[in-house]
Amino acid sequence: MADFQTKEVSTDLLIIGGGMAACGAAVEAAYWAKKNGLKVTLVDKAAMDRSGAVAMGLSAINQYVGLKDGENTLKDYLNYVRNDLMGITREDVVANIARHVDGSVHLFEKWGLPIWTDDEGKYVHEGRWQLMINGESYKVIVAEAAKNALGTDNIYERVFIVDPLMNGDKCVGAVGFSVRENIFYVFKAKAVMVAMGGAVHVFKPRSSGEGLGRAWYPPWNSGSSAYFTLKAGCEMTCQEVRFIPVRFKDAYGPVGAWFLLFKSRATNGLDENYMQTRAGELENWAPYGKVKPVPANLRNWLMLLDVMDGKGPIYMRTEEAIQNIANEFKDDPKAFKKKMKELESEAWEDFLDMTISQAILWAGMNVAPEESKSEIAAAEPYFIGSHSGASGAWVSGPEDLQTAETKDEYFWGYANMCTVPGIFAAGDASGASSHKFSSGSHAEGRIAAKAAIAYCVDNPAEPKVDYAVVEELKTRILAPLDLFEKNKGYSSDNNIHPEYIRPKMFMFRLQKIMDEYAGGVSSQFKTSKPLIERGMFLMDFLREDAEKLAAEDLHELMRCWENTHRMWQAEAHMRTILFREETRWPGYYFRTDTPGMNADWLAFANCTWKNGEWEMKKRPVKYIHESI
Ligand code: FAD
Ligand code: ADX
Repeated sequence: MADFQTKEVSTDLLIIGGGMAACGAAVEAAYWAKKNGLKVTLVDKAAMDRSGAVAMGLSAINQYVGLKDGENTLKDYLNYVRNDLMGITREDVVANIARHVDGSVHLFEKWGLPIWTDDEGKYVHEGRWQLMINGESYKVIVAEAAKNALGTDNIYERVFIVDPLMNGDKCVGAVGFSVRENIFYVFKAKAVMVAMGGAVHVFKPRSSGEGLGRAWYPPWNSGSSAYFTLKAGCEMTCQEVRFIPVRFKDAYGPVGAWFLLFKSRATNGLDENYMQTRAGELENWAPYGKVKPVPANLRNWLMLLDVMDGKGPIYMRTEEAIQNIANEFKDDPKAFKKKMKELESEAWEDFLDMTISQAILWAGMNVAPEESKSEIAAAEPYFIGSHSGASGAWVSGPEDLQTAETKDEYFWGYANMCTVPGIFAAGDASGASSHKFSSGSHAEGRIAAKAAIAYCVDNPAEPKVDYAVVEELKTRILAPLDLFEKNKGYSSDNNIHPEYIRPKMFMFRLQKIMDEYAGGVSSQFKTSKPLIERGMFLMDFLREDAEKLAAEDLHELMRCWENTHRMWQAEAHMRTILFREETRWPGYYFRTDTPGMNADWLAFANCTWKNGEWEMKKRPVKYIHESI
C-alpha cells in the first residue's frame, strides 16, 4: 500500500457516475455553475463514451410524452406508471421527470441522434411512449455533450467510487481508487449527486459455463448507488421492487419492438396465448389487472403460470408477426417482397443497436425471424429503478407539484435531494419513480443537478474533512491487495485459500443465497418469511467473509468492492421483502406465505441503515394526478 499515492480533488458539486443521469446532470450543472462561479466534477468507474446500461446502444427511447404536440398529458403518464407499479409510485417525482423528458429527447436529436421519422417527418413510435432510434452510438452522443459542457479536466474516468466521505452525519464527498494506476482519490464536495446506476449479478444468472456473465443488464453496475446512499444514512425506498424482464432466451434480446411495433404474440409449447388463456387470473389483481397495458409484472406472471404448469417453452411468434404485417401488401408481389426485406432488416437492427449478442446467437443458430419463432424467458432479477423496477433513494419532490396532502411527506427543500442534506440522486439511484428509462434518467439528472447547484449556492461553507477518517477508509479499501500479497502462494491454488476469499467465489455465494432463498430463477421467483430468514442467516457469514476479500491487482480490487456493494443491495432487498407482508408484484416475486395483495400495504416500504442498525418504515402513498 506504501506505493499508493493519495490525490485530493476539491469541487462544489461532485457527480458520481457517467451514465444517462450523470450526463444530463453534467450539461445542466455546467450551465448553472457558470452563472454562479462554481466548479463541477464528474467521476466514472469506466469511460463515459461507453459506460453504463446504454454502453452498447439502444434501439428505442422508452419515455417520450409528446406534451407540446398534445399527444399525451402528464396525467396520462402518471396513470400508466401508477398502474404498472401496482399503485406504488411517487407521482410528484414521476410528473417532474415527465414534464421535462421531451426536452432531453429534443437535445439528443440536436446532438445528432437519429430518431426514426415517417413520411410526414413525425417520430415513429414503437408504442405509445416509445420512439424508434438508430441508437448504436446513443451513449457516445450523449456523453460528448456532457464532456463538452464540463471540460475533460473536470472529468475523472476509470475511478471507482467505494464510499461516501462523511463528517459525522454530513456527506463531504466521496473516496475511491483508480482502476489503472495506484492512486487513492479523495473528492471533497459541497454537494454530491449519486448516479451510479442499478445492480446486476446480485442474483444467480440463468447463464452458466460458456455463457457466464451474460445477463440482460450489462455487468458494469453493481449496486454502488444503493450502497453509497445507504452508507451515508439516506432513507431508501422500494428496495423490494426488483425488475424481471422477459427476454429472448440466453442472449437477452429486447422484446418491446416485437410486442409493440410488430404486434407479435407470445405462445406456449402448445401454441396457446397465455395472455388469453390466463386472462381470468388478472381479476385477482384488480384494479391493476384490469388496466391496459397489463402491468409488466402481471404479463410475466401469466407467462410464469404456464411455465410452472410445464407448458413451456414460450415463444415469440416473430414469423407470424412479420407475415401479418407483410400480408397487407400481398396483392402486390413487388411491394410484398420490399416490405419483407424492410421488416427483416428492422428485426435484426433492433438487436444490433442494443444487444449484439442476440444477433450473434440468432446467426449462430441459423434463425431467420421471418421463418421461425424464437424462445423467450423471464430473466433473473435486477435492480433498475429507472425501468420497470423502482428501487432507489427516497428523494424530495419538486415544490410546485405538491398538494396540501403530499407537501409534508414528499418535499424537503430541493428536488431530488435525499434525506441526508447535500446528497442528490437520479436515474436508477432515485426510487419510486419508474419508467424514466434512458431519456427520463437524463431529464432527472438535469433536474437534480439544477437543484444541487442551488444547494451549493445556499450552503457555501467549505466541506470539513476529517483526515483520520480518510486514512481509515484508505486502509480498509486497499486491504484486499495487502491480504492477497501477504498470503498468496500458501495454497496450491491461489483461488482456494484458508486466509481469504476471491471476489468471484464471493459473488457465486451471494448469488446462490439470493437465488435459493430470495426468489431467484431456480426458486421460480418464490420466497417466504422462513426462506428470507434463512437467507439472512447465511448472509451473516458472507458479511463476515467480506472482510476477507482479496485482490491480486487493481481490477480485482474493483471486483471486491463491487461485490460488497451487491451484498448491501441484497440485504436491503431481503429485509424489505420481509417487511412487506403481501404479494404485490407477482411475476417479479411471489411471497408464498402472504399470497395476495393487502390494502394495508398500499404504502411504501422504506429502510435506513444507521450506526449498524436497519430501520424499516412504512410511508404513505399519496397521489397528485387529480390535481394536475
Ligand atoms: P447508467 O446509465 O447505467 O449509468 C451508471 C453509471 O455509473 C455508469 O457510467 C457507470 O460506469 C457508473 N458507475 C457505476 N458504479 C460506479 C462506481 N462505483 N464508481 C463510479 N462510477 C460508477 N431505456 C430506453 O430508453 N430505451 C431502451 O431501449 C432501453 N433498453 C435498455 C436495455 C438494457 C439492457 C438496460 C439495462 C436498460 C435499458 N434502458 C432503456 C434503460 C436505461 O438504460 C436506463 O434507464 C439508464 O441508463 C439509467 O441511467 P443511470 O444514469 O441511472 O444509469
Ligand atoms: S428495453 O428496456 O430492453 O427496451 P423492452 O424492449 O422489453 O425493454 O421494452 C421497451 C418498452 O416497451 C418498455 O417501455 C416496456 O415497458 C414496453 N413493453 C414491452 N413489452 C410490452 C407489452 N407486451 N405491452 C406493453 N408494453 C410493453
